[in-house]
Amino acid sequence: MTARISAPPVPAPPFSADHSPAHVRAAPSHPDPYPYYGRLARERPFFRDEANGWWVAASAAAVTEVLTSAICLTRPLSEPIPAALQGGAAAEIFGRLVRLRDDEARGRLKEAVTNAVRGLDLGEVAALAHRRAAELDDELGPRLDEATTTQFMFALPMQVIALLLGIPRERFGDVMGWLAAYGTAAASAGTGIPAMTPDLLRSGHHGAQALLDLASAVGSADAQRGPLFQALLREATRLGCDDERDVIANALGYMVQGFAGMASLIGLTLLALARRPELLRQVEADRTYLRPLIQEVARCDTVTSSTFRFMARDGRIAGHNLRQGDLIIVLLAAANRDPALNPEPDRFDIARKEPKSLEFGAGRHACPADKVAALIVEIAVGHLLTRGVPLERLEAGLSYAASGHVRTPLFKR
Ligand code: HEM
Repeated sequence: MTARISAPPVPAPPFSADHSPAHVRAAPSHPDPYPYYGRLARERPFFRDEANGWWVAASAAAVTEVLTSAICLTRPLSEPIPAALQGGAAAEIFGRLVRLRDDEARGRLKEAVTNAVRGLDLGEVAALAHRRAAELDDELGPRLDEATTTQFMFALPMQVIALLLGIPRERFGDVMGWLAAYGTAAASAGTGIPAMTPDLLRSGHHGAQALLDLASAVGSADAQRGPLFQALLREATRLGCDDERDVIANALGYMVQGFAGMASLIGLTLLALARRPELLRQVEADRTYLRPLIQEVARCDTVTSSTFRFMARDGRIAGHNLRQGDLIIVLLAAANRDPALNPEPDRFDIARKEPKSLEFGAGRHACPADKVAALIVEIAVGHLLTRGVPLERLEAGLSYAASGHVRTPLFKR
């Protein structure tokens, strides 16, 4: 049987007449999608959006069922790599990332990717992040305004991962541009947001090729590899993942995966503080509150608002009959507002007892980097607070990046 989905559906207009998002892919860039998400989690746990041609999993139970189902894959079987990317370097990264594969060889590779991240010495990562934050102060200049805050929140996390891989500092500017170009082309090919253009595709392939060349050079020089690259290579060899191109692509995958997520969580945490003066006073007085604060922001203002899966074959999910190739949008942000996951889920409370969150996913594709990502975000937010980040001005210049799945605040004057 042929798959029903081969190209990303074209999204309808983003907001409805009552100002709620018109569909789930318009929600991540909406100013306040949470009443909408909450309604879906409680009232429409799993449904078909006929207008857009996709299914939506919104309750914690439905989201967990999809993420842990063996017949829900990260790509349609008929199109493991989006047609738009075929034939260029972007396909070489996309098709090898553990995030976007469900083939058999991927299992061992994921284990290697996970072991390498989980084996990182968090004390060493923290020291590196503090040092790099101080260097960035010099590079970005003494004035911390809305624009430099945004630059810092993107630069620090990406550069810490780059240092852990062994990428030289003088390439950081290029790497940032290449990651953005590859990421935009991959998102466009996979979700239709932003719309694909020949320029966007060309720069995505160019960025991908430059990243592959750089990672190959770093990976083949013993003295240059950083601890994360070293560990990935060691684990991949130990587990019998013998295709060097898989290792190179997944070393880059650490940056591809972490880049927007950590930047977004830094920005969303700053906004949470800007909106809650009492909490800000608490954190100013005692920085140990930052950790539970970041955890609560990740639950309440979820960065990876949604992910997606495709049916490997006809089958039943959440009591519905789905067809091979059907697309399911998996609303992590809605599930985090489901009262079945946490009592009073709409209350922002950093003292919440044993909070449960699907921010980092679940099942075989769950994020291996939850601890290290939260640590880098904590150091970044702490550093920005010490530098006097203009919290009171962030809201006025706030917009959210165009994305069907990730909620990224951007600040400007
Ligand atoms: C705040 C930052 C981050 C957030 C919110 C986040 C969230 C997620 C989520 C929700 C998934 C699962 C996606 C799915 O099931 O479709 C995921 C997967 C993944 N993340 Fe993260 N992540 C973050 C940072 C990072 C960082 C820093 C790294 C690397 C150092 C990383 C590496 C990965 C990898 C390799 C996967 C793919 C796992 C797989 O498919 O088996 N993430 N992440």
